[in-house]
Amino acid sequence: MKTGIPIGELAVQLQLNPKTIRYYEEVGLLPEPRRSESGYRLYSTYEMERLRLIKKAKVLGLSLAEIKEIVEYAVNGRCGVTEARLLSLIETKLGEINQKIEDLISFRNNLRQYHQKLSQKLDSEARDEHAGVPFCGTTALYFLKKMGKLQDGQKVLSNGASGGVGTFSVQTAKYYGAEVTGVCSTANLEMVQSLGADKVIDYTKEDFTKTGQTYDIIFDTVGKRTYSQCRNSLNQKGIYLNTIATVPLLLQMLWTSKIGSKKAKFGLPPCAKKELDILKDIIEAGKLKMVIDRTYPLSEIAEAHRYSESGHAKGKLVITL
Ligand SMILES: NC(=O)c1ccc[n+]([C@@H]2O[C@H](COP(=O)([O-])OP(=O)(O)OC[C@H]3O[C@@H](n4cnc5c(N)ncnc54)[C@H](OP(=O)(O)O)[C@@H]3O)[C@@H](O)[C@H]2O)c1
Repeated sequence: MKTGIPIGELAVQLQLNPKTIRYYEEVGLLPEPRRSESGYRLYSTYEMERLRLIKKAKVLGLSLAEIKEIVEYAVNGRCGVTEARLLSLIETKLGEINQKIEDLISFRNNLRQYHQKLSQKLDSEARDEHAGVPFCGTTALYFLKKMGKLQDGQKVLSNGASGGVGTFSVQTAKYYGAEVTGVCSTANLEMVQSLGADKVIDYTKEDFTKTGQTYDIIFDTVGKRTYSQCRNSLNQKGIYLNTIATVPLLLQMLWTSKIGSKKAKFGLPPCAKKELDILKDIIEAGKLKMVIDRTYPLSEIAEAHRYSESGHAKGKLVITL
């Protein structure tokens, strides 16, 4: 009676190396298959489904521990069909992302209107200076307060502290009473300190994930460090925030929302009138300085974009109209 297929046939069907299949068994991703009467391994459709799932998760760049969690979750899910379960989770997440993209487009469309409102409340001299507030200011505030649930006295690390979102994140976290560590390159250490950072780390000389220090919030404003790299630097209920969405991050969001005390989060700030009003109060209280790297006339907007894309602007670039 046929109860499964041998490893060679399975490897051909799934385009996997037999050694890889054996390795997955050794590390516990795949259960030991049944044996034929003569002792050969015979793989059933159950193992085949599980291998398909592992193969997909590997393509997404996930670690073995991450894959194990997803496979266990999928296998024990209510639906009971491993691959279909994971696919439906991804479909749901994609639906949510599409909704958030629509929110972002609507946010962009309303930006000019909000900017005009803010500008009316500031004198004309300060107008250019505050051009960065609507986008980067609201992003930093929304990520830290809404998604990171920032509390007085917490320890916050901002990676990319010298950038557009980064300079706002350092000052916003300080405003709400956090102890702030800013991560930037050598040339920007002094500037980040002048924004109020309690500690600065030069990423060209030291890797903040290897110092043994832990934080309540790690805010990667420039998307340079992954959740997996930062996890051990988070306190027990620590939150990792990243402004840039990747497929591994979305999957990590999904499983940390259900498993474990540490959370990984990505988000898109919604239309931000509420955040703008809070920022206006912080600016008027003199607690938020704008860092402007360069100012360009509208005719040089292409050059401004080129400079921004270098990934090394300090604070914001301003286009004058
Ligand atoms: N999710 C959202 O709603 C949302 C909202 C706003 C922005 N974003 C995204 O967030 C990202 C950041 O935006 P931004 O305007 O803040 O960027 P930015 O101003 O262009 O960031 C530039 C800064 O990144 C620093 N940097 C470069 N490599 C680094 C590294 N390996 N480690 C630490 N810092 C590094 C640079 O410092 P050095 O010169 O010292 O290296 C520079 O000061 C963008 O990709 C943007 O699209 C997302």
